[in-house]
Amino acid sequence: MRIVLTHELDQAAELVATEILRQLDKKPKLVLGLATGSTPVGIYRKLAEAHQRGKADFSRVHTFNLDEYLDLPAGHERGYRYFMDEHLFQHINIPRENIHFPPSEGSDLERRCVEFEERILEVGGIDIQVLGIGSNGHIGFNEPMSSLCSRTRIKTLTDKTLTDNSRFYAEGEHQPELAVTMGIGTILDARKIVLQAFGAKKSEAIRATVEGPVSSSCPGSALQLHPATTLYLDPDSASQLRERKYYERAQQLQSKLRQEGRL
Ligand code: F6R
Repeated sequence: MRIVLTHELDQAAELVATEILRQLDKKPKLVLGLATGSTPVGIYRKLAEAHQRGKADFSRVHTFNLDEYLDLPAGHERGYRYFMDEHLFQHINIPRENIHFPPSEGSDLERRCVEFEERILEVGGIDIQVLGIGSNGHIGFNEPMSSLCSRTRIKTLTDKTLTDNSRFYAEGEHQPELAVTMGIGTILDARKIVLQAFGAKKSEAIRATVEGPVSSSCPGSALQLHPATTLYLDPDSASQLRERKYYERAQQLQSKLRQEGRL
């Protein structure tokens, strides 16, 4: 797990967007795994800006979103499809048919979850998976106690997640309690994973993700099993890490190697 300690929110978004654009340059048929929520908004803004400047062509890219609420009608403004349209898809030249979400309406959901996983494999697997993290350590909507090898399926949201996300809902408005999410096993299949965390609210989840035992009680800790995960943390989210000094020193030495062109 590589830890990058950043000082401004924008710096993390810039670093992740630059990495995605670098990979897109090398591989026009890049396959991206995408998250919603407040954390990745800066990345999407930078990708959209790069496209508008003529620096990024998404015409052959495929995207797979991590999750979607169950039974929110298509086009619902609290839905993650709507969120992705607003923040990214309507600003870039990705064909609609290359945008994929886990099935979240209708019947035969288990079979369609399997088809969603098969579709990921058909286009060659996810190259870069973008993640945020819940204050309870969830990644996607894999809530604590999710199987570490889980695949795409329906999950019941915990009270903690419902409370955290209630900020997006008006008082009295229906808030879904069920979602369809990629599993932890699905996420771990990605070639590279980038996770950003901002704010003191995430500090306990980040401590458990980085320095805790690998345990389903903090789904983020499963990322310790992945060979190419980078965490971009602001000072508040990193505030509970015991080995912060070590991560800072490692970051300095690694960036020296990068500057020398040796990485
Ligand atoms: C959303 C998702 C979630 C969020 C997490 C953090 O697609 O996968 O795991 O990344 O709940 O949400 P924010 O970024 O709003 O703090």
